[in-house]
Amino acid sequence: MPSSIVCQNLCFDYEYDDEAPVEVLKNVSVEIKEGEFVALVGKNGCGKSTLAKHFNAILLPKSGRVLIDGMDTTDEDSVIKIREKVGLVLQNPDNQIVATIVEEDVAFGPENLGIPPLEIRERVDWALKAVGMYEFRESAPHKLSGGQKQRVAVASVIAMRPKFIILDEPTAMLDPRGRSEVMDCITSLNKDYGLSIVLITHNMDEAALADRIIAMEDGRIVMDAPPDEVFTHIEAIRALGLDVPPVTQLAFDLRKNGIDMPQDILHVNQCVRAVLRHLQPVEGGADIFGNDKY
Ligand SMILES: Nc1ncnc2c1ncn2[C@@H]1O[C@H](COP(=O)(O)OP(=O)(O)OP(=O)(O)O)[C@@H](O)[C@H]1O
Ligand SMILES: [Mg+2]
Repeated sequence: MPSSIVCQNLCFDYEYDDEAPVEVLKNVSVEIKEGEFVALVGKNGCGKSTLAKHFNAILLPKSGRVLIDGMDTTDEDSVIKIREKVGLVLQNPDNQIVATIVEEDVAFGPENLGIPPLEIRERVDWALKAVGMYEFRESAPHKLSGGQKQRVAVASVIAMRPKFIILDEPTAMLDPRGRSEVMDCITSLNKDYGLSIVLITHNMDEAALADRIIAMEDGRIVMDAPPDEVFTHIEAIRALGLDVPPVTQLAFDLRKNGIDMPQDILHVNQCVRAVLRHLQPVEGGADIFGNDKY
């Protein structure tokens, strides 16, 4: 049976000693299936990280249920199995790297699972190759760039052979180059290795790479659709306090000015192609800039 993460009417609040609890997740129902690449977006404080922590039993529902492959996260006997199936990568790679040599760091998780040494070796090599860090296996993590460290953190998680990886703003602390390295790594893990991904991000260019975008607002899921559909609702996205990819905004503005542009532009190359179509010389006609011919 394919793996899945299922939340049914999930409610949660953080308990404070002297204050009334504030509901952070409000009746969240969602299913994420094996093989999917999902982006989870929403304004600061809307509950994304809190939801993600329910996916591997770090937090437990106040009411409702979270099922990982049918295993209830409140069932104490299932917690270890659940954590093997759902791995979590956090924002700051420095907080996730525990060893002084890259390959030792990646071996740490499988060692804790009691995996035999020969298989650990295989898993470490596989994981480091999958994130493109195999040639750095004997390096000291502190000498790596931010993007490289984050890829080692990802390798350490996938070496435990999870079905799902949840990445909570993994690129937030990285420079543009590190961001694109980590995003290439994430998309490849999904497309080439079949790993299911839940990527929490504030960057809409990153969200546009997913197959499905789930948007949250104030503890609720308010949108759940493929990127090309989500970004046709530009005003609704803006109302949620979110950006749209700059090329999508550009296409939207051109369309508003009467220029025929497709509604589902998410990537620069799609935008370039659509604009180029308008630049084809037309006999006796004018191009979009009002020039007669060129
Ligand atoms: N450990 C905690 N104790 C108490 N309240 C918390 C805790 N963690 C989060 N909260 C509160 O719960 C709400 C949801 O927080 P959460 O971190 O899930 O949001 P988020 O969508 O991940 O935000 P961000 O984009 O800033 O990471 C916020 O109001 C936050 O202040
Ligand atoms: Mg968060």
